[in-house]
Amino acid sequence: MRTSEHTFPADFTFGVATSAYQVEGGIENDWAEWERAGRLKEPHARCGPAVDHWNRYEEDYRLATAVGATAFRISLEWARIEPVRGQFDEAALEGYRERLLKMKACGLTPVVTLHHFTHPTWFHRETPWHSPESVEVFRRYSRRCAALLEGLDARVITFNEPMVLLLGGYLQGAIPPGIADGALTMKAMENLVRAHAVARRELGERLGRVPMGISQNMLAFAPDRWWNPLDRALVRLGAQAYNHAFHEALSTGKLRVNMPGVATARVDIPEARDSVEFVGVNYYSRAHLRFVPRPPFIEFKYRDTQGRGLTDIGWEDWPEGFLQTLRDVKRYGKPVWITENGIDDRSGTRRPHYLHTHLAQVLAARAEGVDVQGYLYWSLLDNFEWLEGWGPRFGLYHVDFDTLERKPTPACDYFRQVATGKRLVAPL
Ligand code: FCB
Repeated sequence: MRTSEHTFPADFTFGVATSAYQVEGGIENDWAEWERAGRLKEPHARCGPAVDHWNRYEEDYRLATAVGATAFRISLEWARIEPVRGQFDEAALEGYRERLLKMKACGLTPVVTLHHFTHPTWFHRETPWHSPESVEVFRRYSRRCAALLEGLDARVITFNEPMVLLLGGYLQGAIPPGIADGALTMKAMENLVRAHAVARRELGERLGRVPMGISQNMLAFAPDRWWNPLDRALVRLGAQAYNHAFHEALSTGKLRVNMPGVATARVDIPEARDSVEFVGVNYYSRAHLRFVPRPPFIEFKYRDTQGRGLTDIGWEDWPEGFLQTLRDVKRYGKPVWITENGIDDRSGTRRPHYLHTHLAQVLAARAEGVDVQGYLYWSLLDNFEWLEGWGPRFGLYHVDFDTLERKPTPACDYFRQVATGKRLVAPL
């Protein structure tokens, strides 16, 4: 397929991304418990009804098609589907099936994530990721998901940002399950890789050929002090562990992590070898790393190096790193899907420019031979942003969090123009 400097090929997919807990509402899971324990930045914030997507899905599919999207990424909420261990809720499965059929009828290809950070409330108590049973319970869950995906031609993401779950939930203890233990982190990582492999087998048996992958949060890294060899070593080791170790395990079947003093792993998982059809990339920003002489030895910061101003959530706006990231995943020899990219822009004025500069990097990567086939903007709607709660606004559509009314931001027009014209133009 031909791509010029400004045009995307006709079969390039533009879509939007969401996740169940952040938009659906009314979910009782490990995050809801975490909130009640007052562990968000704003201890009284609650996700609660979220933005009521569970009920407003038809309106939301229309909003997606109105911006020219032809793919819609959702996640299935495990806690809805298996609220009690071993007991599957048929009404919830039917509910998802209905929604996916509707989505497809609207001309939107479903991109379905099986696991996007959240768990049923029994999971961490009974079968946490560092226990071998986790793989078996995920296999059973994915078997049910397979049945629900029959005939939909969905693209499937087993895990969203497993490294964020591991770092946040197992190494720092900042998100559920709130463990802070390097050895358990590596056990959990190994089981996540195994769980991906078994889910892939279950879905393959039921659905035949189905494009499957993971979504990996990938950061551009830079040394905080360019001249400091320890900062530079951290960047090398950190980028390898954070950005690549998981992708590599799914490519080679070898899990290798080498963060001395923090976490190390060296395990062969042959069933995970060559176990993705595409590489999913979530790209947002660049992080500067600085060596500090006490555990965990790493200080992590976002810096405004270019005077562009940080985004409202405090991340550096660094489109240049997107190209580097895409170049870096070329090594896996698979098609690439941008499964998330977006900006927290509470005024709604910066987003068209952000889209323009980031899509330009996607085109640049394609021109260098990186086979990027799709771009899903995070997010269709403003939603509940994990630890940050209701502050951030990533949506193409602004949501009034009291009335839940959806209103287009200026980026809607811009996104539609690019998505439908398959041509990158400068925003007005
Ligand atoms: C990613 C998450 C997604 C959303 C964006 C802003 O790390 O996958 O759910 O929170 O960040």
